[in-house]
Formats: sequence, structure tokens, C-alpha cells
Amino acid sequence: MLALAACTPDSTAPSPAAADAPTASPSATPTATPSVTPAAAATSTPPSPSPSPSPSSAATTQFSLTDPTSPWVVVNKHRPLNPQNYVPADLVQPKIRLAVSGEATLLNSTTAAAAEKMFGAAAAEGVIMTLASGYRSYSTQITTYNGYVTSSGQAAADHASARPGYSEHQTGWSFDISDGGGACSFQPCFADQPAAVWAKANAHKYGFVVRYPWMFHEITGYYYESWHLRYIGVEAATAMASQGIATLEEYFGLEAAPDYLA
Ligand code: DAL
Ligand code: ZN
Repeated sequence: MLALAACTPDSTAPSPAAADAPTASPSATPTATPSVTPAAAATSTPPSPSPSPSPSSAATTQFSLTDPTSPWVVVNKHRPLNPQNYVPADLVQPKIRLAVSGEATLLNSTTAAAAEKMFGAAAAEGVIMTLASGYRSYSTQITTYNGYVTSSGQAAADHASARPGYSEHQTGWSFDISDGGGACSFQPCFADQPAAVWAKANAHKYGFVVRYPWMFHEITGYYYESWHLRYIGVEAATAMASQGIATLEEYFGLEAAPDYLA
């Protein structure tokens, strides 16, 4: 089984890699307008691997699952961004170590603040993280996705790179990390690098989850990306970690999204 390194902003350089790589989530308060009913907003069938607990049982504040300004927005192959050309209004460049330039250095303001705390905490423990890819516009995602299709074919591309309008990177709530030395960036072996090991164990304390975990591609639609972190808030991320819930689809009781609907 093959997987592509997914989130590289440079569409010309996807790196094919083994999907069956080794196994590899501060209290920033979401600024999005709280808007009720996550579980009720779900249109779906509970996914198979584990029960779908209602987030309402775990989180005191509820947020929209569809509004892209919400820290709980779920974007996957069944749930495109709405509007398709959404641009976060509060993009900022976090004060963290950057491995990229341009728009890829940007995150929405809540995610940026949480990333600063997380990177600082990691550094205090001797783990250097760099920002490898943050915000990606709709038009950038066209280039990125098309690059994967050109080099690897559509089937492989669809397990590694989101189609335009379907990427979490466009929301500003997600980013990719790399290690201090850049080892194994966007490759399966990144899972064993200190930054990924630290993030997997600690990111939830800062509101992040590893969005595309190992062997959950039948739910998330993507092979393991140990580098792709998604902000959902400390309370929800900690609830997922403590309950052993691996995916947003399961946590929010949404249907699995292994493939596009059309
Ligand atoms: N690699 C993730 C799925 C993205 O392209 O957004
Ligand atoms: Zn990513």
C-alpha cells in the first residue's frame, strides 16, 4: 500500500512513501462564535471502529461543525468548505520557527496563539518544531492537488492531498510541522522524529489533534500524516485523547468519508 506525503505546499515534489509506516495531540479559547448542536449537525451514520460519543458529553462549549470560522468545523471528502473560496479574516503569522515563506506561514489567530504555546512548550522540553505548511488558499490547493495527480495519478493523490475546497489548510485551523533538522519531512518516517513523537503525546494539551492518524484512512480519507495538526480547542482535544478517540468524524458522530461523493 502506498501513500503520498500529503501536505507539501510544493506541488512539484510529492514523495511517495509506505503507508504502513510505524505507528506513530494551552488553553487557547476558540474565538469562533459558539453555535450549538454539533451532534445534531451531523448528518450521518456512526463510523465503524469505535462508538461515536456525543461531544456534548465532553465539552461545555459547543461550536458549529459547518462554519469555517468554528474550531470544530469538520472538513473532509463529504464536507467541503462553504463557501468554497473561504479565506479566514484573521490570518496572522505566528511567532514560531518557520520552514516556509509566504501564505504558508499564516494561521488563523486562535491557531497561531495555540501554536506559539505548543512550540514553546516543546522547545522547553528540548524538541524543536518548525512550521512546514500553514494556510493554503483555494487557488494554492488547486496547484498542490494537481501536482499530486500529475505525478502519481488521481487515486494516489486523493489519499494524500485534498481537492480544492476540501482542505483543512484553507481554514487556518491546520498546519504541518517538521522537525528542527527537517528530517523525514512529509514522509512516513517523520512519525519517529522527536517533533512528531512529542506532538502525538502532547498536542492535545494545546488544543490540537493529529488529524489523519495511522490506519484511520477509511474514516478520514487520508493515509497517516504524523505532521498534520488540527486545532479544535483544549477541551475537545483533551477529551479525544483521554477517551482514545482518534478522528473528528468519530468524536462528532459523523459518517466516515473515505472517498468523495462525486
Ligand atoms: N493533506 C491534507 C489532506 C490536505 O491536503 O489538506
Ligand atoms: Zn497538512
